[in-house]
Amino acid sequence: MSVALVGAGPGDPGLLTRRGAELLGRADVVIYDRLVSRELLELVPPGAELIDAGKDLGGSGRQVEINQALVEHGLAGRNVVRLKGGDPFVFGRGGEEAEALRKAGVDYEVVPGVSSAFAAPAAAGIPVTHRGLATSVTVVTGRVGDASMADVDWDAMGRADGTLVVLMGMADRERIVEELLARGRAAETPVAVVQWGTTQRQQVVRSTLDGLAAIDLENPAAIVIGPVAALDLGTNDSGAHTR
Ligand SMILES: C[S@@+](CC[C@H](N)C(=O)[O-])C[C@H]1O[C@@H](n2cnc3c(N)ncnc32)[C@H](O)[C@@H]1O
Repeated sequence: MSVALVGAGPGDPGLLTRRGAELLGRADVVIYDRLVSRELLELVPPGAELIDAGKDLGGSGRQVEINQALVEHGLAGRNVVRLKGGDPFVFGRGGEEAEALRKAGVDYEVVPGVSSAFAAPAAAGIPVTHRGLATSVTVVTGRVGDASMADVDWDAMGRADGTLVVLMGMADRERIVEELLARGRAAETPVAVVQWGTTQRQQVVRSTLDGLAAIDLENPAAIVIGPVAALDLGTNDSGAHTR
């Protein structure tokens, strides 16, 4: 095994898997993403090479350079950890990295992570499914202006009566609201925005669909849309959930 695509979890370093910690503990090279907790890098042995994927492999073709670095270090027989926020295969381009490794004939392992799509709502006391309120949950990209993402099927999003979790959605939140209202989602549908979920910086703002545009929080944030967004079951008191 030379390369591992490891999910770092949503932010709280305690949410890394044991397998992830084991691989970090014997890594020669770690290529990590911006949102990954710096505390996790303390698990890496002294002398290992730490590469910030955003800074050290910068440039317009960033993903190409990351793929290349993974292949090169892998072919050199080093223990490489590609540390990615949340789960490596949820909006993390981990699939493209796996494809590049497979094409180059480099052995790799995928270590699942706790995705922010579920962890951020849970940390805010929101069960994404709940008997009587939501029997399904859909996770969707909110980067609606990003040409590299297939167009979101807003008709389906408007029809879906379960919970919608939008990642990367705060920049385009006005458009998201417009699309959903135009397809019949009620203006008073509960909404919660969970920023930096599971971390010390976690902030939660609750509103309704027609109030989403006014919520002034930036990414990283998960937008939860649907009746469950009004719930706050994070603690055993009735007050706001704080960490
Ligand atoms: C490129 S996606 C990667 C998602 C990641 N692979 C996962 O499974 O969580 C980055 C987006 O995930 C969401 N995100 C990541 N960490 C978060 C956190 N701690 N709280 C809320 N949202 C988070 C934000 O929407 C952010 O813009």
